[in-house]
Amino acid sequence: MDLYNKIQETAAFIQEKITTNPKVGIILGSGLGGLVDIIQKETTIPYSDIPNFPLSTVKGHSGQMIFGKIGTCNVMLMAGRFHYYEGYSMEEVTFPVRIMKALGVETVILSNASGGTNPAFNIGDLMIIKDHINLCPEHPLRGPNDERLGTRFPDMSQAYDPELINMAKEISAQQGVGVRTGVYIGLQGPTFETPAEYRMLHTIGGDTVGMSTVAEVIVARHALMRVFAISVITDIGISDVPITITHEEVLEAANAAAPKMAALVAALVKKL
Ligand code: HPA
Repeated sequence: MDLYNKIQETAAFIQEKITTNPKVGIILGSGLGGLVDIIQKETTIPYSDIPNFPLSTVKGHSGQMIFGKIGTCNVMLMAGRFHYYEGYSMEEVTFPVRIMKALGVETVILSNASGGTNPAFNIGDLMIIKDHINLCPEHPLRGPNDERLGTRFPDMSQAYDPELINMAKEISAQQGVGVRTGVYIGLQGPTFETPAEYRMLHTIGGDTVGMSTVAEVIVARHALMRVFAISVITDIGISDVPITITHEEVLEAANAAAPKMAALVAALVKKL
């Protein structure tokens, strides 16, 4: 079955289970489950029930699609995402974004944990992503283009919606939560970077680095959805002394910052 028909089949399965169609689609990163408690749940579907859906394999990712409301806004939330380093194809990594579009989503909100390459950043900082550098080894739109899904050569000049960025900055000021703005570099992982790599990533214009998000954003823009993305800085790669980084530390720092990120995203969703 080609991608278009897979999307139709999966969306039809989900459509039968939900009462209202989502306007906003949210993808949660590692350790960033805070929004799961804020959403008023209406329907929860385990990924394992969904036709054509891959299964999530990483610790800290539970693998559920949750439909419900944040305020009066209908949302769908992906608790658990697919990473290229797990062995999924780019088509699988970005399939949930295609499903969002098929179900009527207009705005996609993504979160992630990332490593700071900007020496001014601190562990636990939130960073609104204003742009990205794609250093992943494969492109999610490689191959024949299906015009029903989007144009062959999508524009990426304002991939991260400037209006949403401004709204989020205003909200964070009102909430008294400091937030950074910067450039996210997407790599495949699963190794964290070497000290020389962190330095290089900063030199080429990155403020943080991570192993997700970029492919999903590309597909969301291919599908002409608005994008907002936010990162928790869980470690700082730039240092005079070598610092070890573990997945446990990343999850711990993400968990600690999850409530402030959830509050910011919830307030943003309520304005959409
Ligand atoms: N590098 C890549 N991905 C990450 C990092 C990092 O330092 N921290 C969290 N995800």
